[in-house]
Amino acid sequence: MHCDGIVGRFTPNGFLFQGAYWVVEVVILILIFMLLWICCCVRSIRYSWKFPIPAFMGNAIAAGPYRRRVQPPSMVVDAIDAKPGMTVIDIGCGSGLYTVAVAEAVQPDGVVYAVDIQEGMLEKLRSRMKREGIENIIPVLADAEGRIPLDDGIADAIFSTAVIPEIPDPVKALLQIKRLLKTGGLFAEAEFLLDPDFPLAGTVKKWARKAGLVFERQVGHAMRYVLVFRKDS
Ligand SMILES: C[S@@+](CC[C@H](N)C(=O)[O-])C[C@H]1O[C@@H](n2cnc3c(N)ncnc32)[C@H](O)[C@@H]1O
Repeated sequence: MHCDGIVGRFTPNGFLFQGAYWVVEVVILILIFMLLWICCCVRSIRYSWKFPIPAFMGNAIAAGPYRRRVQPPSMVVDAIDAKPGMTVIDIGCGSGLYTVAVAEAVQPDGVVYAVDIQEGMLEKLRSRMKREGIENIIPVLADAEGRIPLDDGIADAIFSTAVIPEIPDPVKALLQIKRLLKTGGLFAEAEFLLDPDFPLAGTVKKWARKAGLVFERQVGHAMRYVLVFRKDS
């Protein structure tokens, strides 16, 4: 009996090996294994050798409908309950996809301090501000692990997306975040699985606990989440 297409693959004589199907299947399997292997290598390198994602990749990280779908800027705006008049800090702002969304939410008299360790990223942020006509963002060139040049307790809320696990000593950065927050202020940390530095939510909670931040709630699920912490004292 002659069978074509998918049906032909599952006839007793044709299963897997009919025509050129087996070549396609082997190629697909090889590609899947290669992809997994590359992911494992990149994760192990990033685990032992931390460095900021280069500035030339800034727009690529923020661009694309996929990122906006899995980590929509509204997720961060809602997590910190951004309202007009608030002072907010974005730690590791990159090219500013989330910074701009929060800056819009705190208008007209609120402000967002956008902290990044790379001048190249702040340049990309300035271009975005110009393109989108946003003025209430103040770029700050600083290492979140060191002393960020802003006053203690200046922020009503702080957020960071895909940054904290990229920093060699995350607890040190979280201590800075605690210093900059007002008592009762919220800190939101957003992560998603496709980031090569992606940490489990439990790991971020452990770091935050060490820095003295109190876990409040989690939005999303294990592979794509926003964790919200509070500064109690
Ligand atoms: C993966 S990118 C995320 C950018 C942006 N938050 C986003 O989600 O599109 C990480 C950013 O954190 C910045 N960064 C890394 N280490 C930092 C540090 N120690 N202090 C401040 N910024 C840092 C990098 O320069 C980069 O812009």
